[in-house]
Amino acid sequence: MFEGKSIVLGVTGSISAYKAVDIASKLTQGGAVVEVIMTEAAAEFVAPLSFQSITHRPVHTAMFAPVTDFDIEHVALAERADVLVIAPATANTIARLAVGLADDLFSCTVLSTRAPVIIAPAMDVGMYQNSVTRENLERLRSRGHIIVGPAYGRLASGLEGMGRLVEVGEILAAIHQVLGRGGDLAGRRLVISAGGTQEPIDPVRYIGNYSSGKMGYALAEAARNRGGEVTLITAPAAIPPPLGVEVIQVQTATQMRQAVIEKAAGADALIMAAAVADYRPEVAAEKKIKRRPGRLSIELTRTPDILGEVSGGLIKVGFAAESEEIVENATRKLRDKGLDFIVANDITSADSGFAVDTNRVIIIDRNGKVDRLPLMLKSEVADKILDRVAGLLAGK
Ligand code: CTP
Repeated sequence: MFEGKSIVLGVTGSISAYKAVDIASKLTQGGAVVEVIMTEAAAEFVAPLSFQSITHRPVHTAMFAPVTDFDIEHVALAERADVLVIAPATANTIARLAVGLADDLFSCTVLSTRAPVIIAPAMDVGMYQNSVTRENLERLRSRGHIIVGPAYGRLASGLEGMGRLVEVGEILAAIHQVLGRGGDLAGRRLVISAGGTQEPIDPVRYIGNYSSGKMGYALAEAARNRGGEVTLITAPAAIPPPLGVEVIQVQTATQMRQAVIEKAAGADALIMAAAVADYRPEVAAEKKIKRRPGRLSIELTRTPDILGEVSGGLIKVGFAAESEEIVENATRKLRDKGLDFIVANDITSADSGFAVDTNRVIIIDRNGKVDRLPLMLKSEVADKILDRVAGLLAGK
């Protein structure tokens, strides 16, 4: 995911510095070359060796002149970086960066880089609330730096408030977004639906389906990583939604329709990965339905066909979960709903479809071209789908 990227991770002296080890680890696992620069204070909290062991690179801790090629080092680091991440960034660090100090390797590197800078503040609540810190952060933001957090929660001082370093996932999402700026979906607005709708029968029961949301969430994440501006409209799902995208939670097909229609206006593409109920109970009982002798019938009525209804020149992509005559059924849906292409899968196969991390799909386009893809991770399928979306958008 970070293959071929050079990421400079600046770690400063906060109790949360240990979390930066996890950031370095995730970035390295993702294929990035991670250069860690620690301030003197940071090295009091976490041993440089921790970072070195994870990144397999020397950690830059040099403060002043003793390193003869100091100038070259900070310039080289700054030049090489695709993105510079400061996590955690203390109030002191933020103040130093705001005024442009350059009195150690870390501050020299930040000052001389032309790469985007992401700053994840971490400090005690009082320091964060102080107007001088707020002004400093505002200054950095107005210079184009990206400020992530801080989060609310329990702080090292024992107080509760704003000042915690955000979750590692949020920092990684910000890095993805920054690196995706030059991606093939940069500047494109994508609406992606996911999850399985729930149609209430009474206050405690609903008609649902086995959708886990994994395919739609993988699409939203991949689109984000390619620079897309993503709105994820999600019915209940088994996993948390990705960060760095707009998330709209819905429950029923009717709610999903309303959200999709609203968000599709002005969007470049709509990808409906949600498993939308085709029928809903005509009335949802206001009180819990009690057990009584004899049979119980629930009258069902059709839900609106969301994908069929949306129009307006945007790219439309549908999914077809089929158990028989896959290509025929999917092609019919493609035509009926006026799609650019449809992604069909065989739900009877154990390694494909609901709840699993893999999918074997067949992509059929509006010219009837059938492309059978091998078994892949859903994240890989997502990129294959987005390759086509990006291609169609580029050709428009
Ligand atoms: N879909 C939709 N609105 C609905 C039902 C489905 O927008 N009310 C979308 C799905 O998100 C999917 C595509 O249409 O992208 C096909 O879904 P599917 O349920 O397979 O299609 P149906 O036309 O309902 O066909 P079937 O009879 O097989 O259920």
